[in-house]
Parts: sequence; C-alpha cells; structure tokens
Amino acid sequence: MARKDTRYVCQSCGALHPRWGGRCDACGEWNSIVEEIAESGPVGGRSGSRSRKARAIELVELSGKSDSTPRRRTGIDEFDRVVGGGLVPGSALLIGGDPGIGKSTLLLQVAAALSGGARVAYISGEESVDQVRMRAQRLGVAGAAVGLAAATDVVEILAALNAPDAPDVVVVDSIQTMYVDALDSAPGTVAQVRASAQELIRAAKRRGFTLLLVGHVTKEGAIAGPRVLEHMVDTVLYFEGERGHQFRILRAVKNRFGPTDEIGVFEMTGGGLAEVANPSQLFLSDREVPVTGAAVFAGIEGSRPMLVEIQALVAASPLGTPRRAVVGWDGGRLAMVLAVLEARAGVRFSSNDVYLNVAGGLRINEPAADLAVAAALVSSLTGRPVPPGSVVFGEIGLSGEVRPVAQAEARLKEARKLGFGAALTPPLRRAAAAQAGGLELREIADLAELALLFEAGSPAVRAATPRGVQV
Ligand code: TYD
Ligand code: MG
Repeated sequence: MARKDTRYVCQSCGALHPRWGGRCDACGEWNSIVEEIAESGPVGGRSGSRSRKARAIELVELSGKSDSTPRRRTGIDEFDRVVGGGLVPGSALLIGGDPGIGKSTLLLQVAAALSGGARVAYISGEESVDQVRMRAQRLGVAGAAVGLAAATDVVEILAALNAPDAPDVVVVDSIQTMYVDALDSAPGTVAQVRASAQELIRAAKRRGFTLLLVGHVTKEGAIAGPRVLEHMVDTVLYFEGERGHQFRILRAVKNRFGPTDEIGVFEMTGGGLAEVANPSQLFLSDREVPVTGAAVFAGIEGSRPMLVEIQALVAASPLGTPRRAVVGWDGGRLAMVLAVLEARAGVRFSSNDVYLNVAGGLRINEPAADLAVAAALVSSLTGRPVPPGSVVFGEIGLSGEVRPVAQAEARLKEARKLGFGAALTPPLRRAAAAQAGGLELREIADLAELALLFEAGSPAVRAATPRGVQV
C-alpha cells in the first residue's frame, strides 16, 4: 500500500502512475517504474519550499576570486592522484567494485589517514561496530580518531551530520544498505538507493563535508541501483582486480575535479592495502628465457608510464569459425589487428584460434598497444620470440602503417629505467629518438616490416600448415 507522500514515476518517460507496475503504459518501457518521494524538500524536517516566494538568482563575475577550501590529501599517493590531488570539500564520491575486492578496507585506511587533520566518520551498514574495530586492528589503524557507527537509517544519519561538531569527511558503506523511511521499498532497490544517495549528497553540498559512498557492482559490471547514481555524484571510482591476484586497481571513470585516466595500484596484503609505487614490475613476468607469444608493451596509464606484458596464443583450430578470445583488451581492436596483419603483411590467422591476454589482469585502452599485440601474435604464430629485452609500442593504421603515438619519450625512459635494452617503435621524431639513451631503437614503418622480424608473411610461411600450440 503506497503512502500519500510517495509516487510512482517512469524513469524512461517521466509518466506518473498511481501504483507500481512492470510496464509503463505511457511509453511501453519495462521495469522502469520507480517509487519516489513526492516532496522535493529534504526528508525529516520539511520546509515549505513550494510556498516560498521566488528570489532572483545572483550573477557573479567568472573572474572573481574563489574562496574554496583546499583539497584534503590523505597521504596515500595512489589514492590522492586518482581523485585529482586530494578530496574536495562538499563533493560526493562513489567507489564501486565487486564484493570482497577491498572497498571497505581501502576506505577505512583512507578514513584513518585523514583523521589527523579532519573529523572523519565511518558509517557502516554492513558490519557491526565490533567488526569494523577488528578490521582496524588488523590494518594497524585502531588508534586513529575516526568516529564509528553502524547505521542504515538515512534520517538518523543526517541528524548526526547536522550536529555542530559534524565531521568533515563521511564514509557510507554501502549505499545499498541505506534506506529512507518515507519509501515503502526495501533497501537496495532502485528507489531506496536513489533517495538515500540524494539526501546524503544534498547534505554534503549544504554542509561542505566530503561524502564517500560505497556501491556494489552487479554481475554485469554496473554499479547496482540506478545508473542515475553515477550522474548524482561528482566522482565515480572503480576498485577492480582479479580475485586470485594480490593487486587492486583504483580507476576514475568520472571526475568533476580531476582527470579520468589515472589509476592507482594497490597490493592486498595481510595488513591491508599497500601502495604499489612502481607498477611496471608488477605487470611484467620476471622470466629469464625469452618465450614466444609475449611482448612487453610500453604504455601510459594516466600520467604514468607502465610496462605490461601482452601474451598471445595462436593455435590450430578444429572449428570452422576459429575462436578469438580477449582478456584485458578490446575484442574489436584485436579483429582489426588480425585483419590488417593478414591483408597488409600476408600473415594468416584464419584457420587458427587466437587468445590474447594482458598479464596481471590490467585493462588496456590505448591504441598504442596495437604494435605490441601484433608482435605477440606473429611471435606465437611463427614460434619465434620477440627480440629479447625489448619493449614495443605503436598504433596500427588500416593500411598497415605503424603510426606515432603520444609520449614516446616517457615510454622509452621507463623501459630504460627497468633495464630494457631495445625498443620496437613507430618512426620517431628526433627529440624522442634522442631520449633513447642506451636503448637500441628499431623503428618499424609498417606491418610487413614487423613480419620480416619474425620472417613471417613470406610465401614460405603463408604456405605452411598452422603450427600447434606454442607458448
Ligand atoms: P573488503 O574490504 O571487506 O571488501 P569489500 O568491502 O569490497 O566487500 O575486503 C575483503 C577481502 O580482503 C577479504 O577477502 C579479505 C581481504 N583482506 C586481506 O587480505 N587483508 C586485510 O588486511 C583485510 C582487511 C582484508
Ligand atoms: Mg565491504
């Protein structure tokens, strides 16, 4: 039974309905009707905002001085960099991730790190106060001055946040456990997640505290609850990682106050999350003997160069339509590289299964990885390793040419720093080439030239029957 002060609104067309239904009569959309609080004022104390006489807004100079308070740094560099150099007062952040990935651990460490210079509250809707204390002990931050509460009622939480000595930073773990009493829906439903987030964010803007919301991720990979949650907050961070692996990556997918291409790398240890300041070492396998089907890509993640191993396996396929499977890279991009290799360099994969993997569970979005992918593929097909001790980078065009990419200097520098002796690169500008230092540069103009390195693409290779598994 709906209460008087709630209504049912289609999220697709905005039509109002007297009761919940599976399908909106107005636009025909399924599962789009959501219960909402009818009043526009905050829950709890309702101000008669409707009857208020409209006051004209005031326009100010763009050039005027801003009196914003400085960002709050946690001192955890990997975190600070991803949020854009510290937390902005009055902003709302959403940290999404799979259950058990380490969101609560990260935020408890962040809360403890901030507690020296700010009043910090950690509100848990999932764990009891004792459980959070136990975790804090394990993390070695049990002595930190963090206010702790186990609560799920948003109105009660807001009452505490409105107190005179209210905190400057508030962690709410998780938004799916919070509820607003005015709604009939259960916690975790779209209506509750939206209403709870709205109230908390409104309070953060009004009172100027930084709000850190934890959000669970569904199997499909989206933050559970409405997509609209991502529009409501200022910053959306994803905390990702493979369950079997030790390391975790914090990635900004939306940020009103910083870049969105930065990542922070952490390692999950027995004593919580440790920063990984030099991630290249993490994503490279330390083997001595060169293997076929592996190429080290000199990439850039955000502002940081990062070396990552790209692994390919090309095997004879028993299927009419061979398999192409990709982990950590774009499947469409792989199809393109395969097509260009075949059309422009005569390297054929059409009767082979192709598997591509970015080592360590990292996800690469840069087109600059094309050449490294091509090198790994041709290496696996021919059974010859990529020249040992070399890194690879370069974008591939549809005509088979290898195109220059941004920040070649930084990539070469990182390779040198980590002890690599050579690089396969696109044709470089003189400035970049000068940066190479002791690196032996092999500038590759097109894919035919790459194939020659492996002696692939020649008529002999094209005629050869596909080889078996080679790694
Ligand atoms: P948690 O922060 O509870 O994940 P989330 O809040 O995202 O659901 O992390 C739980 C996992 O982290 C759990 O599998 C145990 C592991 N862990 C450690 O390995 N070391 C630690 O110090 C802590 C606190 C957790
Ligand atoms: Mg948790």
